[in-house]
Amino acid sequence: MAAAAPQPPPPPFLATIPENTVPETAPFRHPLYARIRLATILDVPHIHKLIHQLATFERLAHQCTATEASLAATLFPSPNPPLPFTSFNVFILEVSPDPFPPPAPQEDTTNSSPLLKTLHLDLASEDSEKEIFRSEIGGDVVVAGFVLFFPKYSTYLAKPGFHIEDLFVREPYRKHGFGKMLITAVAGQAVKMGYGMVEWVVLDWNVNAIQFYERIGTKVYQDKRICRLTGEDLDVEGSAK
Ligand SMILES: CC(C)(COP(=O)(O)OP(=O)(O)OC[C@H]1O[C@@H](n2cnc3c(N)ncnc32)[C@H](O)[C@@H]1OP(=O)(O)O)[C@@H](O)C(=O)NCCC(=O)NCCS
Repeated sequence: MAAAAPQPPPPPFLATIPENTVPETAPFRHPLYARIRLATILDVPHIHKLIHQLATFERLAHQCTATEASLAATLFPSPNPPLPFTSFNVFILEVSPDPFPPPAPQEDTTNSSPLLKTLHLDLASEDSEKEIFRSEIGGDVVVAGFVLFFPKYSTYLAKPGFHIEDLFVREPYRKHGFGKMLITAVAGQAVKMGYGMVEWVVLDWNVNAIQFYERIGTKVYQDKRICRLTGEDLDVEGSAK
């Protein structure tokens, strides 16, 4: 048998790495693909769980009586569902270790193409609730957050806007820019529709959220308070003493 031809020495970079190992500090080891899309009725079980997690975070779980059935009936009424963005809307944030397929052209009947972003994390996300938040679309796709919003009107601007009712990013996925991405999706939709503003309410002890809002350029008013009639008080004449 002929002697093997001598191999050229490996290039200096590879020569420092033992074969078949990836250095701990290698950049871009864990790609995480994110997508924001309009929710459908199939997302209701996840929306319900996310709402309960937000209510628990806000220490208001005792006020949260929403069920999957009541959410389905009110967010996705049948037989005459409203056109997207004319009533209540939910954008769902999904993440996946694999790229999302491009939307088929006929899928985009809503004038709202999915918003995509790719992160490259040093560490893979540890998500202990991965199974219960596995997306309806299958694969390794996990629901990571949501924003629920609907139209409102500003008489001063003489323009509609959007009110955000809930914004939530699940804990393992925070501080990766996803909260900003969800608000960007709503603000982008407002701009697309010629709307004048996007507004929401924040609890005054939620310092993290307030700092996040200020960081992304939101004006947080100190001199406004929420007023609400609910339950029996909706019967204003009956409630008046
Ligand atoms: C508030 C919340 C939606 C923010 O989402 P997030 O994905 O963690 O925020 P992002 O990573 O998009 O942050 C965007 C920017 O705000 C900054 N930011 C986020 N949280 C911050 C904090 N606690 N303090 C200071 N800055 C903060 C980020 O550093 C980032 O700045 P950059 O663009 O310069 O990098 C998320 O923390 C959450 O769901 N919290 C629990 C529920 C909640 O409070 N909802 C809001 C109810 S009103």
